[in-house]
Amino acid sequence: MQPDWIILHGTQASLILERVSDGTPLWRYWGPRLPDGVTPGQSLAETRETPSFSLDQPLHFPLFPGFGLGWFGQSGLLAHSGGRHFAFAPQRCEVEWVRTGEAVRLTLVDIVARIDVAVTLDLDLASDVLTINSAVTNRGDRTLHIHHLAAACLPLPDDAQSVRHHGGRHNGEFLATEDRLGLGQWRRENRHGLTSHEAFPGAVVTTPGATENAGLAYGAQLAWSGNHVQSIEALDDGRFQWQLGEWLAPGEIALEPGATLASPDVLATCSTEGWGGVSRNFHAGVRQLVTWPGGGMAPRPVHLNTWEGFYFDHDLGQLKALADAAAAVGIERYVLDDGWFAGRHDDSSSLGDWWPDARKYPDGLAPLAEHVTGLGMEFGLWVEPEMVNPDSELYRAHPDWALQIAGRPAQTARNQLVLDLSRAEVSDYLFGQIAPLLDNLPISYLKWDHNRDLVAAGGADGRARYHAQVEAAYALFDRFRAAFPQVEIEACAGGGGRIDAGIIRRTHRFWTSDCIDAVSRLHIQPGFLQYFPPELMGSHIGTAPAHSTGRSQSMDFRAAIACQGHLGVEFNLLTLDPGERARLGEWIAFYKANRHVLHASVYGGSLPDGMRWHAAGKEGEWLLFIIRETPMQLRHMPPVRLPFVASDARYRITPVGPAARGEAVTLDGGWLAQGGLPIPQMKGEEAVIYRIEAA
Ligand code: GLA
Repeated sequence: MQPDWIILHGTQASLILERVSDGTPLWRYWGPRLPDGVTPGQSLAETRETPSFSLDQPLHFPLFPGFGLGWFGQSGLLAHSGGRHFAFAPQRCEVEWVRTGEAVRLTLVDIVARIDVAVTLDLDLASDVLTINSAVTNRGDRTLHIHHLAAACLPLPDDAQSVRHHGGRHNGEFLATEDRLGLGQWRRENRHGLTSHEAFPGAVVTTPGATENAGLAYGAQLAWSGNHVQSIEALDDGRFQWQLGEWLAPGEIALEPGATLASPDVLATCSTEGWGGVSRNFHAGVRQLVTWPGGGMAPRPVHLNTWEGFYFDHDLGQLKALADAAAAVGIERYVLDDGWFAGRHDDSSSLGDWWPDARKYPDGLAPLAEHVTGLGMEFGLWVEPEMVNPDSELYRAHPDWALQIAGRPAQTARNQLVLDLSRAEVSDYLFGQIAPLLDNLPISYLKWDHNRDLVAAGGADGRARYHAQVEAAYALFDRFRAAFPQVEIEACAGGGGRIDAGIIRRTHRFWTSDCIDAVSRLHIQPGFLQYFPPELMGSHIGTAPAHSTGRSQSMDFRAAIACQGHLGVEFNLLTLDPGERARLGEWIAFYKANRHVLHASVYGGSLPDGMRWHAAGKEGEWLLFIIRETPMQLRHMPPVRLPFVASDARYRITPVGPAARGEAVTLDGGWLAQGGLPIPQMKGEEAVIYRIEAA
């Protein structure tokens, strides 16, 4: 009998599952697009002899493996009710097409354990991103305790070779590390309670020969802003299982009869254009998740952020003068950072007391906000809703509102504790304090920060609240979005501690890192761009020396690197001499004239001798940045091969930007792709920019 297939096709990718009569469909294929009508032809069982020391009916890699009944690898579900029903092996699979050939829901029914797991797979034609998630439902009559629920259990081919993953620390996020896959399990876990600086919940897996711009690569990322785990393990047929999901604390999820736990989504994609191809698919997929005020993205306005220029030192006269200077250089959105609310003069107090400081702002924020909007700029405000300082009115009134474990010390970080948002009165208080500011002031932007990890994250009932905190935070974001649909929100957590595809459904920009040093950003930004598009990447021109590193770079270099994302300026403009101010204005004008190109398709690559290139644009118009980090060691600059040009076209290549030098040339696309663009000699910490247009 012909096996029964479940086939999903994208534009560049296909996925095939094999239906089996008695349980979970098997993974047969996830990889480059197969021609319509192509199937594996034979069932997996037909093609395999049973090896020695095996079950008489061996289990092959299912869509969602379960523990205890013949699967010896990682299980998608670990659960029990009162210590019983520890095994999971569905007898039935219900198939429901959401969109024929593109999206399907498979409900796996285990009538013994009385557990259902519904797995939804949706392969988007436009982006080639597979969105996959799972939901476990307790069909029994006792509480079901969930220890682990994978959001996705993905197959990787037997030649999967290396995993590129990203992370680091505060001031050093998204740094790439590559590990070789082997027989041992590769695993990354995060228990910081938010997405974390340390480990991004995603990775890219490469096959032999894959590079940034060619070869088969797979990517996946979990859309979740809390604890997470991902693992890659070798299977007994040489393939690999890649699991991603939430990391659950002991006892955290107990499902009463009839209740369901839904996993976050995983976004997964594969590309034959290397890990750059994976990034472009992710960009297309993530762009569909962002909900913009008014329905579409407005050109990303140039920011001024007050933080590094002023820190807590808010003087109304200076801040107004700063606004004047900002407007004069072309800045479009002025964000008043930390330091504006009652008693907030350093980081020791006042989080939770969300009303303006009466000494700094005797007439409230209106005089500054109206001054800013009067200059034609938008006004944005920094908040950190989830946090409370023990030294605050809020904490003195409600010490029990902070997450804590009875009998254990409250551990502060940056002198603050985390509020238990899952308590309705806490979220109501925060909405009740912050919403009137949005009602009464011309605020069109919030920078929403989260400046510590979750520790001792227990609720009043003594149970872990990590999962509940993320859900409650999402609900609070959603409440603000519903009440103030015109307000954009920036996700920040000490820079890049909460950057993920879950929070971006509710926000519009990430603060990529508190490190604004342009040399550091050369390593942080490509890691960010692996998963998210450039228009979401907050990138600021900071001062020199950089506050985070003490290193100094020229304004031209700092600006060229910052222009690759959503541009901002973060230093005291009033300190600039007229020449520097004019130069800053030229860079801002360059960004504004080109943001539609900068925020399109992104390519990049490493070059020999301390260099990298970054290109953005679309067919017929590109901006190419050549970036030299370290001084030249070679005697000649290596030419730069451009994988994004059409081989049969000719291109006009013109040096552009405030620091442009050299003459325009016209070259064949075929030469640019294979021979490469010749580059002039460059100093260390220098960038040159070219416009590349179809001639
Ligand atoms: C975090 C953010 C900074 C700034 C400060 C304010 O560190 O990442 O950009 O907003 O908080 O305290």
